[in-house]
Amino acid sequence: MCGIVGYVGGRVATPLLINGLKRLEYRGYDSAGVAVWQPEALVIRKCVGRLSVLEQSLLAQPIAGTLGIGHTRWATHGEPNEVNSHPHTDCHGRIAVVHNGIIENYQELRAELQQQGHTFRSQTDTEVIPHLIEAELAAGAPSPEEAIRRALRRAKGAYALGILFHDQPGTMYAARCGSPLIVGVGPGEHFIASDVPAIVDQVRRVIYLNDGEVVVLRADSVAISRLDGTPVEAMIQAVTIAAEAVERAGFETFMLKEIHEQPRILRHLLARHEWQNGTVAMPDLALGAPYFRKLNRVMVVACGSAYHAGMYGKLLMEHLTSLAVETDLASEFRYRDPKIDPGTLVVAVSQSGETADTLASIRMAKTWGCKVLSICNVPGSTVARESDAVFFTEAGPEIGVAATKSFTAQLMAFALLSVFIGRARNEVGEAQAQELLVALRTVPDAIHYMLDRSADIRKLADKHHDGPSSLYLGRRFNYPTALEGALKNKEISYQHAEGYAAGEMKHGPIALINEYLPVICICTQTRDEVYAKMVSNMKEVEARHGRIIALATDGDVGMPQLTEDIIWVPPGRDEFSPLVNVVALQLLAYYAAQARGTDIDKPRNLAKSVTVE
Ligand code: AGP
Repeated sequence: MCGIVGYVGGRVATPLLINGLKRLEYRGYDSAGVAVWQPEALVIRKCVGRLSVLEQSLLAQPIAGTLGIGHTRWATHGEPNEVNSHPHTDCHGRIAVVHNGIIENYQELRAELQQQGHTFRSQTDTEVIPHLIEAELAAGAPSPEEAIRRALRRAKGAYALGILFHDQPGTMYAARCGSPLIVGVGPGEHFIASDVPAIVDQVRRVIYLNDGEVVVLRADSVAISRLDGTPVEAMIQAVTIAAEAVERAGFETFMLKEIHEQPRILRHLLARHEWQNGTVAMPDLALGAPYFRKLNRVMVVACGSAYHAGMYGKLLMEHLTSLAVETDLASEFRYRDPKIDPGTLVVAVSQSGETADTLASIRMAKTWGCKVLSICNVPGSTVARESDAVFFTEAGPEIGVAATKSFTAQLMAFALLSVFIGRARNEVGEAQAQELLVALRTVPDAIHYMLDRSADIRKLADKHHDGPSSLYLGRRFNYPTALEGALKNKEISYQHAEGYAAGEMKHGPIALINEYLPVICICTQTRDEVYAKMVSNMKEVEARHGRIIALATDGDVGMPQLTEDIIWVPPGRDEFSPLVNVVALQLLAYYAAQARGTDIDKPRNLAKSVTVE
């Protein structure tokens, strides 16, 4: 989704804006622009395409000035072109606005403003904002901030805004409702940004704005108010991530770096949740054993990869506790009529903590009196702040658009939570819990082993990447793994891929199988009753000449009789095999994407943080 960076202080603004926007590239975008205050006018420069085009333009014709706002646009209303790119202005170019979000009632506001004589140039929803502010000033708003507040009281939808006024030198305005926005605090300077990584190399202190807040920033002051004008005290917090965390560290892409970070992250999570007083420790969880003892039901809501993690969470929680657990897509959950009561715990899973549908689901759950536990990777994010309890996955900033390390960290979170809840309810004995923990501790090494086999996985990707489609099959704990493997493949290699529960193959997808279709079969749950079923499904694929790529456990002597294309996985407990298997599928997708020549970290059309519905 769109990215925002703004600067006010003593340094030249545009290099800082470009530097920050580059660090937001992972959010996805199709055009970019800046507005910089100059004595004679607000100077605006916009370009379609990559940020480097805008950067080159600014290098060729620099814009001086120490106050500016910048934007990367991910088109929602109006095609990606220069006119629709942000910043947008009022009729006279005296107010410039950058926006992330959607103004849902823009059509009626636009019609009303047009009737008053305002001229619109773009097809965007955003353009109503500078015109509304202009109208409020004309109608007598006593200050720019009051004009902003009055304008925003009329806007419905989601927004994070950066605003400049030509008659307000040295002052940047910003506001937030539903879309993320932070203020960066430095000596004699302030930033605004959509996310901490944008400015992590510039400041070490930030303010997380809340919904319905408007902020006025000068080089040496910050003033926050609510939409009704009530002043709000600024809560300055330290930045917890290191600047190096958003560098590639020698890897060719962020995604590859993040795939390789997984063993370290999982080891860290295991260390944070060590064995203590007869269970795994939950040092920061605001819900304790007594709450889980009384719990009736769990409802997991999430989107995309986080939803797949939630599917795994359901299987594991059901396996280790007597709780009834359901998982739903947040975008569906929010529009159905679930029979949820305060005895249900809603678990929201979100890497970014800003996903619009997940947030909406949390808010609905709270109106029903449910507690919300989120599994989240970004401290200070809206999901984290609005939840009653948070399990932080502590995977560090994930820049590659395709979720990798955040996903395995979510699986680990579910594993640890399931053991903890099972212990709290006395449904998992102490010895069993210890055994589970011992098995979990083997996972980081098993992932290392997979990473060491990257060259073999690459060979398979090179062999099979060229077809139009592929099928991923798994059962039980590895059904979500199949879905996640297919999602990774389509996201970054643009090859159509379908994940299926292997038992469903006969109910439709078997019609696709021929000698051209790669079928990735996850067959590593050797102790599970589904192993034999999975082997039968593979035989059915073989009988129809499908190109089987098997994930099999080291020492599985039967597997080479089914296929020569095998990714060998070290043995481990069936319940935790998805944490290792998915790494093999991440690598398979990665090398397929490389062979197909796609932009792996910034796949087309995708946004890292989906802050609109
Ligand atoms: C995964 O690779 C995705 N890019 C996407 O499906 C993502 O998992 C989804 O948008 C949810 O994001 P969140 O975890 O930040 O809520």
